[in-house]
Amino acid sequence: MMRYKKYSDIPISLIKTAELTPKSSLYRQNFHIEPSSGYLNDPNGWSYFNGKYHLFYQWSPLRYVGNSEVWYQGWFHMISEDLVHWEALGPGIEPDSVYDSHGAYSGSAIEDNDQLLIFYTGNTRDKDWVRIPYQMTATMDKDGRISKNKTPGFTGLIPGYTDHFRDPKIWKEQNAYYAIVGIQRENKTGTCMVLKSDDAIHWDALGEIQTKLTQFGYMWECPDYFELGNQGVLIFSPQGLTAEGDKYQNIYQTGYLVGDPLNRESLQFNHGEFHELDLGFDFYATQTMISPDGRRILSAWMGLPEINYPTEKFGYCGCLTIPRELNIKEGKLIQQPIEELKQLRYDHKQFHETINTNEYFMLETGALFELAVTIEFKKSTKLSLGIRADKQNEARTLIEVDKNANEIRIDRSQSGASFAEEYGTTRTIPCTISNETKLQIFVDQSSIEIFINGGESVASGRIFPNEDQNYLFIESTDGDSAVQLDYWKLTKC
Ligand code: FRU
Repeated sequence: MMRYKKYSDIPISLIKTAELTPKSSLYRQNFHIEPSSGYLNDPNGWSYFNGKYHLFYQWSPLRYVGNSEVWYQGWFHMISEDLVHWEALGPGIEPDSVYDSHGAYSGSAIEDNDQLLIFYTGNTRDKDWVRIPYQMTATMDKDGRISKNKTPGFTGLIPGYTDHFRDPKIWKEQNAYYAIVGIQRENKTGTCMVLKSDDAIHWDALGEIQTKLTQFGYMWECPDYFELGNQGVLIFSPQGLTAEGDKYQNIYQTGYLVGDPLNRESLQFNHGEFHELDLGFDFYATQTMISPDGRRILSAWMGLPEINYPTEKFGYCGCLTIPRELNIKEGKLIQQPIEELKQLRYDHKQFHETINTNEYFMLETGALFELAVTIEFKKSTKLSLGIRADKQNEARTLIEVDKNANEIRIDRSQSGASFAEEYGTTRTIPCTISNETKLQIFVDQSSIEIFINGGESVASGRIFPNEDQNYLFIESTDGDSAVQLDYWKLTKC
């Protein structure tokens, strides 16, 4: 008997049970993608095809139902015309073949010859629980019908590497298809394998990408290679880095290397330093795609493996970040919320305030809003924002912009329901604090995403406030600060 199956084979009573409790959650998101039941992790197959954006995600709908007989892990399919309003179509790639019987794992998709070309990892285990990965190809036609190719694109292991071999990210050049895939060397270090194909059906392993990071964690998940301007960018999620000062605070990381374009023959990638993409609390397993107007847009899981989130008691877990547009400035990625999100704004309010020590600015924000803040330090040294605060400004997510230290600290110790405290409750983001420091903040029912100085740094985190936490407080330390504030309510999608 197969461990996994088709969604339509799952007893309807079980699906109904799984979908019941999430509805009673205080924490349901309003403009972020999250599952109707079970567990969401990586964004997959992120693409534009047949006039629509397609976004799939890793989905285990029955994770919290507690029936070990029925287990399902595959792709869930969403479509959108504007990257903001999404329609849920249901299961996408299902774990229904011998090549993906233990999970249709992460992968990617591109438009090709009027079809969506899909490349993903089929996870299997034999009777002794030995893992055999298959890199699987499939296509989706314009009517949304998905057909898996009968034979895998690439079968099994590569000598010198372990069974941790997954998450192909595909791209196409004039006469060839390429994919970059996460893999673990036999010496238990992580890297990426480059695959190539003439027909997108049969794939060969060209070899390992040559980077300077030869000892950098034990596995690299969800890699992505693309070129932006004239530069090559490699994004990946390394596991096993040890925290170093303010860096690498989360259980696992996601970051990037910018360099010269990848040499397609030698696989040499000359690159600069590794930078984390997000310096907040919950961020992993990114994927990018190109929009029809040529923007490189990123999606990510606003969550991490092996962390227990407060929504789990309501039978679901995980959401995706808002999409971010990527650009390069001085060898670093700049990440900005996509323009399309402006559609969500209404009820604009604008304030120009001078805030003195021992005073505060307060605004009833609700739970769903966007803020654009420009800070001018006059005599002050620090500006503190209490986000989703209660009336006393005791429970809140605290953002401290510290001029002397040139850093921004985010403290979620008093945000609401606590979780993941073993990884610390504050994050410190080094940045140049000028007299024109800008923050753009998106708050949904249970998340906060902070874009600093036009996207030079970003910090995201899940927060789980109580219902009375609906206020914003701003305070200034050691003298006055001038603050220019734009506030918008955001509509539910
Ligand atoms: C990353 C990951 C991938 C894998 C997928 C399975 O979160 O572990 O490497 O393909 O999740 O859900």
